[in-house]
Amino acid sequence: GSSGLSFYQGFWCPSKIVPNIISFQNHFKSHDQDIILASKPKSGTTWLKALLFSIVNRASTSISNTPLLRSNPHELVPFFEFTLYANNNKIPDLSNIPFPRLFSTHIPYDSLSKSIKESKCRILYICRNPLDTIVSHWHFANQADHLNLISKWTLEEFVDVYCKGEEVFGPFWDHILGYWKQGLEHPRKVMFFKYEDLKKDTKTQVRKLAEFVGYPFSMEEESLGIVDEILKLCSFKNLKDLDVNKHGKFMPYFENKSYFRKGEVGDWVNHLSPTVADQVEKLIHEKFSSSGLTL
Ligand code: A3P
Repeated sequence: GSSGLSFYQGFWCPSKIVPNIISFQNHFKSHDQDIILASKPKSGTTWLKALLFSIVNRASTSISNTPLLRSNPHELVPFFEFTLYANNNKIPDLSNIPFPRLFSTHIPYDSLSKSIKESKCRILYICRNPLDTIVSHWHFANQADHLNLISKWTLEEFVDVYCKGEEVFGPFWDHILGYWKQGLEHPRKVMFFKYEDLKKDTKTQVRKLAEFVGYPFSMEEESLGIVDEILKLCSFKNLKDLDVNKHGKFMPYFENKSYFRKGEVGDWVNHLSPTVADQVEKLIHEKFSSSGLTL
């Protein structure tokens, strides 16, 4: 359509990456040790990538010399559909990636490669209050129009797109509920995180994350303050102020700095009128009230 999106397997996806998704679906072979971070765009993906990378690699790379200081988190935990399977249908060679391999995706659960569902790999899912996600996404889309994503829209128009379920990787309710259900049915496979919980009690959530992926913090590490060091390293301010995240691009389309805007809960009140917010709240109630998930 005119938004540069195509409807594919029940979700809206940038037309340009449909071939990447098909290639991923046909060729990606998952390993039991893989860890896959899934999300809707603007839900806290970058932050969770930084935390996951730090947790898994803390024994091999000291905090003072971690690649996170030199690389955007999206380079360290690559997207299947934007980076790995983006080379004109050439199947990427993933054989040199050390285990556990860390990957990420915005693809809904149902459309993941079959082997992800069949292996014992773990999936982390992060979701965020849709009002904040919309506001965050609108700011982001206004900076990055190279994929032909929605950009010249007013915020109110953008809200309408979301409410129709026609945003990138939308409808958001199907995306979130798809992973939510898997988390309920297969708690050892899918762990569900909320951006708001991560903000409120980062330390508890990070311990939970470390345990889930098989890298729990030892008593010794706790007493050495390793958890706090990781929280500090991955804090909004610290990541935002790194040279690598102030300059440069992540793929040709996205500037690294566009992944670090404000990093707060509830910023939507500064952008959306009560009437518009009410429209979204009603939709959230309608779609999520029977799921047991509160957003
Ligand atoms: P805002 O636009 O509300 O600031 P994603 O990584 O999924 O693209 O999500 C981007 C959102 O996460 C942006 O939200 C961004 O500022 C926020 N973010 C990025 N790094 C963060 C961090 N370390 N802590 C908290 N929020 C962070």
